[in-house]
Amino acid sequence: MEQKKDWVKDLIVYQVYPRSFQDSNGDGIGDIPGILSRLDHLSALGINALWLSPVFRSPNDDNGYDISGYREIMDEFGTMEDWDALCAECHKRGIKVIMDLVVNHSSDEHPWFLESKTSRDNPKSDYYIWRDPKNGKEPNNWASVFGGSAWEFVPERGQYYYHLFSKKQPDLNWANPALREEIFSMMEWWVKKGVDGFRVDAISYLDKPQDFPDSAEPPQPDGYSFSSSLINGRPGTHAYIRDMNRRVFSPYNVMTVGEVASKDAEELARYVNTDREEFDMAIPFVAPIVEINTWSPKKMKQDIQNDYDALKENGWWARFFSNHDKPRQVSLYGNDKEYWEVSAKMLAMLLHSLPGTPFVYQGEEIGMTNMRFPYIEDYNDPDAKNTYHQHILAGDTPDVALKEAQMISRDNARTPMQWNATENAGFTTGKPWLGINPNYTKINAENQKNDPHSIFSCYKALIALRKSSPALSRGDLEIPETGSDTLFALKRSYNGETLLSFHNFSAEPSKIPAALVPQNGEVLLSSYDREGGYTGPNLRPYESVIFRV
Ligand code: GLC
Ligand code: CA
Repeated sequence: MEQKKDWVKDLIVYQVYPRSFQDSNGDGIGDIPGILSRLDHLSALGINALWLSPVFRSPNDDNGYDISGYREIMDEFGTMEDWDALCAECHKRGIKVIMDLVVNHSSDEHPWFLESKTSRDNPKSDYYIWRDPKNGKEPNNWASVFGGSAWEFVPERGQYYYHLFSKKQPDLNWANPALREEIFSMMEWWVKKGVDGFRVDAISYLDKPQDFPDSAEPPQPDGYSFSSSLINGRPGTHAYIRDMNRRVFSPYNVMTVGEVASKDAEELARYVNTDREEFDMAIPFVAPIVEINTWSPKKMKQDIQNDYDALKENGWWARFFSNHDKPRQVSLYGNDKEYWEVSAKMLAMLLHSLPGTPFVYQGEEIGMTNMRFPYIEDYNDPDAKNTYHQHILAGDTPDVALKEAQMISRDNARTPMQWNATENAGFTTGKPWLGINPNYTKINAENQKNDPHSIFSCYKALIALRKSSPALSRGDLEIPETGSDTLFALKRSYNGETLLSFHNFSAEPSKIPAALVPQNGEVLLSSYDREGGYTGPNLRPYESVIFRV
C-alpha cells in the first residue's frame, strides 16, 4: 500500500460549511474571519486539514457551488486578505488548507457566461454547452438535478445552454481546450497562494455525449428524465482528470479528493487507483433519498469490505458519514434520542477505526442532529424545494410533500454550528441566515469542551489515537465474522501492532463471539466511558470498544 504521496494518509480532515460556521460581523452569515476566530476549536480537536466548502465569489443560488469569480472571495465571507490570514494561521498550526473546486459548472453571473450568451461568435462562445432548439423545443428530455429541464433558452443566441444543476449553474464546456487551460491556470494560481489540496465537486460529469441523445430513464413528475447514466463516468472525463493531474496535482504535490456520483467500489477505483494518476481519494455521492432508503448496517459492512478490496493494493479511501449534502449522521445512522451520545460515539469509533483518511463535518464532533422546519418557506436548499414541488405535482398533499422535503433536505446539515447556550448558539449576534436547531441549549461545543466523557472528547481521543497508532493510519484491515449483521469487528495490524475493535450498530444488546474476545487486550476507548466503560463481551446498545491486543 505504499504511495508516492504518503502525507495524504496522515490527514484528518475537518469540513467547514462557511455560511454556517461562525459569523463575525452580525449579518447572520458565517464568514472567513469567523472561521479564523474558531481555529482553537479545531486545534483542540487535533485535526490537521481544513476543507472549506466554496468561498469564491458567488450569487449563492446553490450556496457558493455556483461560482462567478474563481479568483475572488465572496463579499459576504470577507476579503482575499481575510483568506490569506486564515491560510497563514492554519499553516502556522500545522493545518493544511483544502479548497472546494467547482468546475463542472460556473454561475450564470460569471463574466465568461455573460459574454458567452451574447452571440454565437464571441471569444467565450464555446465556454459553455450550447445547442439549437429541436422542433422548437429543448434539445433533449434531460432533467436538471434541482428540477425542470436541464436546458435554458437564451434569445440573444437563439440557443439553449445545458445545466446539470440549477439554471444559474451552466455547465462548462470541457471539450474546449481554452476553457480547460483557464481552469488549470486558475488552480495553479491557488496552489501558488498556498492551497494544499482540492476537493473537486461533481467531477464525474465533465464529459458529455456530444450528440445529447434522449434519456430512457423514467421521467420525473415534471416530465423530464435524468441523464445520469449517459453522462456519469465517461472515459473522456477520466482523460480530463488525468490532464488536471499532470498539469497541477502532480507537479505541485497537492492532495486531491474527487466527488464521484457512484458508490460502486470498482467504479470509484477508476478515479483513485494510483496507476491511473487521477485523484488520491474519492467522496462517493449518493442522493440523500437513496441513502435514506437503502442503507443498513449489513450493507455498510459489505461496502467496507468491497471498498477495501478494490483499493488495498493501490489506492486510498476518504472516510465519512457526514457532509453538507447528507442528513446528520447521528439522526440517520444512529439514534438522536435515548442513545444520542453513545450512538454518536459508536459512529465516530467505527469510522476512525477504518483504513483511509477520516473526514469530520462541522457539528458532527458534538453530535448535532437533523432539524425539521415547520414550513417549506423556511428551507433554503434548492433540493428540498424541488422535492416538495415534485411531490405536489405527483398529487401528494402539502403535508406529505413537506415531510419528504424535511427528510432529505440538505439544510439538516447546514443549520448553524452550535457553539454555546447563549442566544443564536453563539453563531451570530444578528438574525441567522438559516434557523438554528433549538436543541443548542443542550447540544453545544461549550458544554462538551471540558467534559471528558463528551462526544467531542471521544473525537479528540480518536484523532490522537490515529496520530499515535500506525496500525490505525497504515494498517491492513480484516473483518472477522461475528455472526451478526449489526455487530462489526475490525482488525487493524501494522508492524506488529494490532488493534481490534467491536461496534454494536444497533439499539439491541449484542454479544461478541467467545472466539473473538481478546484475552489480554488493553481497552483504549469505549463509547460507554461515561457509564464506566467496557464491562465485557455482552455489548450494550451502540456500544463500541477499541482494544490493543
Ligand atoms: C456537489 C455539492 C453540492 C452541490 C452540487 C452542485 O454535489 O456537494 O452541494 O449542490 O455539487 O455543485
Ligand atoms: Ca458575517
